[in-house]
Amino acid sequence: MMTQASKPLRLAVLLSGSGRTLQNIADAIADGQLNAQISLVLSSKPDVFGLQRAANLHIPSKVVSRKEHPLAQDFSQAIWQQIRPLEVDYVCLAGFMSLLTIPDDFAGRVINIHPALLPSFGGKGMYGHHVHEAVLAQGCKVSGCTVHLCDNTYDTGPILVQRTCPVLTGDTPDDLAGRVFEQECLAYIEALQLLSKE
Ligand code: GAR
Repeated sequence: MMTQASKPLRLAVLLSGSGRTLQNIADAIADGQLNAQISLVLSSKPDVFGLQRAANLHIPSKVVSRKEHPLAQDFSQAIWQQIRPLEVDYVCLAGFMSLLTIPDDFAGRVINIHPALLPSFGGKGMYGHHVHEAVLAQGCKVSGCTVHLCDNTYDTGPILVQRTCPVLTGDTPDDLAGRVFEQECLAYIEALQLLSKE
């Protein structure tokens, strides 16, 4: 009996910076680890390298500037206006640094990656190097990353995948960030693979 190939997951990727996670997802698709397609890259900032990466990958991109939408609600609405017509299965936050209000029709379909083991070291202001500085200041012996489904607060919602790595004596925030990022690359793909099997 022939097995039916499953349909590729349709994704939108939201970012605010260099787009390393976009690159990771695109690479996993290109090398056959992930059966998915990225329909749109949406940035909350103009002039970020993530948009250049999207162009290099031949993925359409748009900017919905957080600065030009001073009200958080208007900003979120402008984003969903762009995404809704694309009929994507999941929205992947990939270094997206603004709070997004998730409407009912996208509940359970927005994924985030956070560079720490939530629920520790999450919440407003906990992003990028701030997270690793806090982990080091606390003297933690392990850190890692969390991929989770988003709700309407920062860094909460059901956890899909966590991966850990050691914190080593003498680590700088950059050292730790690099080690955590290696785990992020594995964790995001693992999470999308899980969702593609649902
Ligand atoms: C990643 O390390 C991700 O964990 C972090 O942004 C980085 C990717 O951004 N996200 C957060 O801190 C969300 N709270 P980049 O692609 O711009 O380097």
